[in-house]
Formats: sequence, C-alpha cells, structure tokens
Amino acid sequence: MTTSQVASDATLSLEARYCADTFNGAIASAAISAAWEIGLLDALASTGRVEISTFAKSREAAPAVVRAILVALSSRRIVTLDAARLEATTDIGFESAFSTKGFFYWLTRGCGELFTTLPTMVRNDDRLGEYVRRDARSISVACRNIARTFFDPPFRELIDHIDFGTVADLGCGSADRIVMLAERRPGLRAIGIDVAEGAISVAKEAVGEAGLEDRITLVQDDVLNLTPRAEYEDVDMVTCFLMGHDFWPRESCVKTLRRLRETFPNLRNLVLGDTCRSTGVDGPEHPMFTLGFETVHTVMDHYLPTLDEWESVLDESGWHIADRQLIDLPAFSFIYRLTPA
Ligand SMILES: C[S@@+](CC[C@H](N)C(=O)[O-])C[C@H]1O[C@@H](n2cnc3c(N)ncnc32)[C@H](O)[C@@H]1O
Repeated sequence: MTTSQVASDATLSLEARYCADTFNGAIASAAISAAWEIGLLDALASTGRVEISTFAKSREAAPAVVRAILVALSSRRIVTLDAARLEATTDIGFESAFSTKGFFYWLTRGCGELFTTLPTMVRNDDRLGEYVRRDARSISVACRNIARTFFDPPFRELIDHIDFGTVADLGCGSADRIVMLAERRPGLRAIGIDVAEGAISVAKEAVGEAGLEDRITLVQDDVLNLTPRAEYEDVDMVTCFLMGHDFWPRESCVKTLRRLRETFPNLRNLVLGDTCRSTGVDGPEHPMFTLGFETVHTVMDHYLPTLDEWESVLDESGWHIADRQLIDLPAFSFIYRLTPA
C-alpha cells in the first residue's frame, strides 16, 4: 500500500469520506460529459482500454487533460489507471455510467449554468423575467441519448402494431424519434415541432444527415399555442416525449390536451412519454436523475405532476388510456398510448 492510500483510507472518517465522495462526484459528473463529447467513453466501450497518449494524439488533445478526466472517472470506479497513469481500463462502474451518460450530459452541459449560478436564483427579486439560462442544444443531445436508451424500446413495442401515415412530434428536440420512425416506415411523413432554436438546429442536422428532408418538416413553434395549419390535417399520430410536464399546471394541461384534437383533426393516437414528480423518496434514497430533474424544475418555477395527477387529468381532457408502460429509469416515468375518448 502506498503512503497516499494509507492517508486517504486511515484519516477519513465515514462522514468525511461521504463528503469527499460528494465533491468527487461533482467532478466525475463533468468528466463523464467531457469523456462522452470527446469520444473517450466510446473508445473505452469498444475496446475496454485506452492508451492516453495515442487517444490524445488522435484527437489533437492535451494528454494531461485527457489523463485528468480519466483520473476523475477513476474516483467513481468508472475506469482504473495503471500505476504510471499511461493507460485506463474500464472498471465496475463503467457500464452503468455509459448507459446513463445522457443524464450527466443533461446535468453538466445542459443545466451547468443553472447550477453554478443557483445562488442568484433564490431571492424573489432575482426570479423575474428570463432568469434561467440552459443550453437547449446540449439538452436536446442529452435527451436524444436518454430517449434512445430508456424510452424508445418500450415506445416501439407500444406502436409496432399501430397504423399511421403522418406523425407530429411535439417538443421534438433533436428529431431523433421522427427520424427513427421515418427510417422504419418507408411511406411515413413526419412533422417535428419545437420552440427552441438550438433544438431545431440539431434537428435540421439530423434530418439532413438521414436524407429525409422530403418526408420530415420542422416547425419552430410553441406547442402550448399551436394554430391549425394545412399540413397538420393529415396527422393521425402525435408523439410527445419528455416535455408533457410543460403542459401543466392542471388547467393548462387540460386545455392543451383538448386543443390537440382541434389542431390535428384526424388524430387517432397520442403517445405521451414523460418523467413525473417523485413520491415517497427522501434523502440519500433519491435515484439517478430524479433529484436533478426536480431541482431544475423548481428553480425554473415549472410545475411537475405526479403519475396520479397525470392519470387524473386524461379523462377530463378527452383522452382514454389504450395502453401504457411504466419505466424504471428514469424513475417515475411512463409512456401512455391515448385514443380519443
Ligand atoms: C427534454 S427535451 C425532449 C426532446 C425530445 N422530445 C426527446 O425525446 O428527446 C424537451 C424539448 O421540448 C421543447 N419544448 C419545451 N417547451 C416547449 C413548447 N412550449 N413548445 C415547443 N417545444 C417545447 C424544448 O425546447 C426541448 O427541445
């Protein structure tokens, strides 16, 4: 055992270790996002090891910074470094960190500024106007990964047997879902609607890369105030993932859900997938993502409904649950397939 190991194990009480883990976890979270963005996580996933100087050279990166990122990851056992710190291999935490990287990206790249400036968003006087800044582009990249990993497999199961010719995706973000649907269904036409310019620019790139400009239309608009358009008349399926909570509070949710049937007069299926406010979770028991999701929405003063609240609003809004799937990660998440009541 080295002198430094003796010092860290012997001198830290359990409480101090807990505190050090909190500090290290914050840095490791940023390191996961950075490692994903620079291709380091994918390199580790494909071969299980990375030689630092070779990787750095291939990316024209500073080897010392690549090493620092890997050391931060090693603090949470995502990788292990050899004694000379020349190479890293995946450790027991890798698989889980790899599959949940989108949550870390959402947190540090998408909501980083919100968290670093949190003290300036507490006093009532500071909470006026557009006081929250998040990075819409990074959020759409993060959500694309979260949705692909955790929502799309059950979503495909829910709709595989359903016929539809034109789909509109509300709050489409990166447009990944409509690109995926258009690639799986050759005759399908799709419309992606999102209010954020950053999201629309990521979506445009994705649609262009997939060569689907002739079948996918992107519209920058506010889903809460949609006005009928000629191209909405053919829409027989609407999907909405990870933004349904923006329909709330209750009265506005009822209005938005009802109005969808006027905006899209031929709508036969509405598929809603979202994460709800947690119930019965406290202190150290918070699962992955829940704490970040709820903190951010509280700071933004956005209401988050519970699963029970969602179920209580559907009937009144003119929708019937035809099918549903509950999702374990992110915790307190669901996908409903709704049909007009
Ligand atoms: C959490 S992201 C989810 C993106 C995408 N649905 C997915 O599953 O990856 C939420 C998206 O909804 C968009 N959004 C939020 N409120 C909106 C509104 N009122 N009208 C249109 N888009 C909205 C945001 O810009 C963002 O791209």
